[in-house]
Amino acid sequence: MSEKYFDKNAQKYTEDYYLSQIRHPKWQRQKTIEKLVKKFFKSSSCKILNLGCGPGLLEEDLSSFGFFGIGIDSSPAMINLAKNRSLEKNFSDKWQFFVGDCEKTKLNSGEFDCVIASGLIEYMPSDEKLLKEVKRLLKDDGILILNITNLFGWSTCLNRIGHYLKKSNKIVSIANFIKKEFFKEKVTVNKLNFNPRKHFPALFIRRANINGFELLFSEYQGFTVLPSPLDLIFNVIPGDLNNKLDFLKKTPLKFIGASNLLAMRKK
Ligand SMILES: C[S@@+](CC[C@H](N)C(=O)[O-])C[C@H]1O[C@@H](n2cnc3c(N)ncnc32)[C@H](O)[C@@H]1O
Repeated sequence: MSEKYFDKNAQKYTEDYYLSQIRHPKWQRQKTIEKLVKKFFKSSSCKILNLGCGPGLLEEDLSSFGFFGIGIDSSPAMINLAKNRSLEKNFSDKWQFFVGDCEKTKLNSGEFDCVIASGLIEYMPSDEKLLKEVKRLLKDDGILILNITNLFGWSTCLNRIGHYLKKSNKIVSIANFIKKEFFKEKVTVNKLNFNPRKHFPALFIRRANINGFELLFSEYQGFTVLPSPLDLIFNVIPGDLNNKLDFLKKTPLKFIGASNLLAMRKK
């Protein structure tokens, strides 16, 4: 079900979460992924696979550091956006994009030094299939960089209620009216017919371990004063306050971060 959603909303996803919001947490996630890739690899000798690549923004940045590889996404609309972007921004010589299923790609075993899965595993029915496919695709000692949505995240603790309410057309219209009229928000709410999964990070890391990965890096991200969608109030009143909470990732309160970005080596 999520596949259809992303295909229908490819352009809107790109605008709402990236192009129209330079402070959106998805940029922070992307920048941390880039730092990790640069930390672990030299560009000229590292072949990367980005699963659920979306519109190709990460590839654009990675190519500017010399990194190359393949992006796979189940949505033809996302793959079109990524291909067009690679032509417009001159990185089509470094990155190729294909429509495909991340749980059963047709790519060769042991082909990649690094696999990235950002904002993807929560849409899969379970973790195992994706972890097994990534293990097959990675070279020995290859690295998986992925993020999970934290079950205990404060910013996302109302998501279940939000997703439930978003099933109704009426509620979506009212929410969009409030967002536009009261909060002057350009980004509108979308009707959702599915619930992305959340993870208990310690259990996920253990599951990844059982499936052949050892943890190298973990960082919690996404801190807000109020949980979403109430955090809109803070976008309007004290401006940048949510962004200033980023320091929490270095404190014991890191465990309330909305998401957990992980890097793991294939054992
Ligand atoms: C939340 S978006 C994340 C996009 C991008 N990785 C990012 O970080 O912004 C999830 C992406 O996964 C893709 N996707 C969902 N299910 C998939 C599957 N089974 N195989 C490949 N891609 C999938 C969607 O089409 C969408 O582009």
